[in-house]
Amino acid sequence: MGLRTVDLIQKKRDGHPLTADEITYLIQGYVSGSIPDYQLAAWAMAVYFQGMNAEETAHLTMAMAASGDQIDLTAIEGIKVDKHSTGGVGDTTTLVLVPLVAAVGVPVAKMSGRGLGHTGGTIDKLESIPGFTVEQPQERFLEQINRIGAAVISQSGDITPADKKLYALRDVTGTVESIPLIASSIMSKKIASGADAMVLDVKTGHGAFMKSLDDAIALAEAMVAIGTQVGRETVAIISDMEQPLGRAIGNALEMREAIETLQGNGPADLLELCLKLGAHMMQLSGRAATERDARAKLEEAIRDGHALAKLKELIAAQGGNPDAVDKPELLSVAENQLTVKADRSGYVHSMAAEEVGIAAMLLGAGRATKESEIDLAAGIVLEKKPGDRVETGDTLAVLHYSESASSEADSVASRVHSAYDIRGEQPAKGHLIYAVVTKDGVRKLA
Ligand code: URA
Ligand code: CA
Repeated sequence: MGLRTVDLIQKKRDGHPLTADEITYLIQGYVSGSIPDYQLAAWAMAVYFQGMNAEETAHLTMAMAASGDQIDLTAIEGIKVDKHSTGGVGDTTTLVLVPLVAAVGVPVAKMSGRGLGHTGGTIDKLESIPGFTVEQPQERFLEQINRIGAAVISQSGDITPADKKLYALRDVTGTVESIPLIASSIMSKKIASGADAMVLDVKTGHGAFMKSLDDAIALAEAMVAIGTQVGRETVAIISDMEQPLGRAIGNALEMREAIETLQGNGPADLLELCLKLGAHMMQLSGRAATERDARAKLEEAIRDGHALAKLKELIAAQGGNPDAVDKPELLSVAENQLTVKADRSGYVHSMAAEEVGIAAMLLGAGRATKESEIDLAAGIVLEKKPGDRVETGDTLAVLHYSESASSEADSVASRVHSAYDIRGEQPAKGHLIYAVVTKDGVRKLA
């Protein structure tokens, strides 16, 4: 075709959209090594300043999705709906949603990741169940979904190598914070993983990647537009991450919280977000005509025990001990606990979610770097959350940690203590879900 990389960099620099062929040339050249880092970095910076239109963003997504393995889920009957969260603190939703939506007939083929930094990963959380394995050959993965309706495995193989290489480059060239680049990065992985449709949970607030509501909505719109362009219907929920979701932060602690939620005794915010996301998953898969109908079915699956039974089936199918559902002491349990107490009375106004996530990481619940070892039992349980009344001496939170982290415990406790903003007057009620973004536009709920 005689394309020259420098011409494409200049074209983008000057604000002109690139064609599908031009984008494919850049991505293939970058992965094969014929285009060097410095040229792709210059292009990424041009995108950072000039942006990309919806078509270009979709072309980039598909070029990255095609850069490595693509999972073929056609052997699974029905419309496969994936769910993705942009990452938060104590976000236990996937653990609840997988068995919940599988119980109402939505097939779930989930490939999840491990946690990094102050955000957790579903794979680590599931490994807190004794015996649970997250590695499976593709055939068994598909067979299990057809048999019981769900499987969760760790991302393996060579999915979107272009995204891996480009993300690492963006990380060191000041080009991470570009909405089209973030949107295409996330969507390329979902598309390569075989999803027919997607429900995205875009978090906003202190503990989220997108700190402002406007940025979260813009990212959601970009991802929904990609889905629409490439024929995979996508719905995004904008949800709050000003505070951690639910009460538990940490792998085994969140597994326990997910079990309680499926038993009907979970925290209200976690349940509500799961019902919202689950209802959209049901609608996209054709299992419910309206959100109301979907919600009623999901609530029924919790009430009648189907969702909990599905979790046991999933655990047994993946080599884990399903008794852990009824006996949570079989999950990893930490040797030590330390309570963080209020030193004044009043109301919890806010909590610094990211600080709490970092505190849990320091106790061993998360990885400071990709190579760090984690302690599945470690974490934090919040006894008080924004809006709650507290008296001096009340327990705000409980830290769970092993002997090896005990030298950190006091400093982590003071970190958690200072993450709480306690004031005299009662705060206004916060919001959990701000908006729903579909191909028809943005519907604000708060
Ligand atoms: N998460 C991703 O997967 N990609 C990005 O570019 C940013 C966040
Ligand atoms: Ca939680």
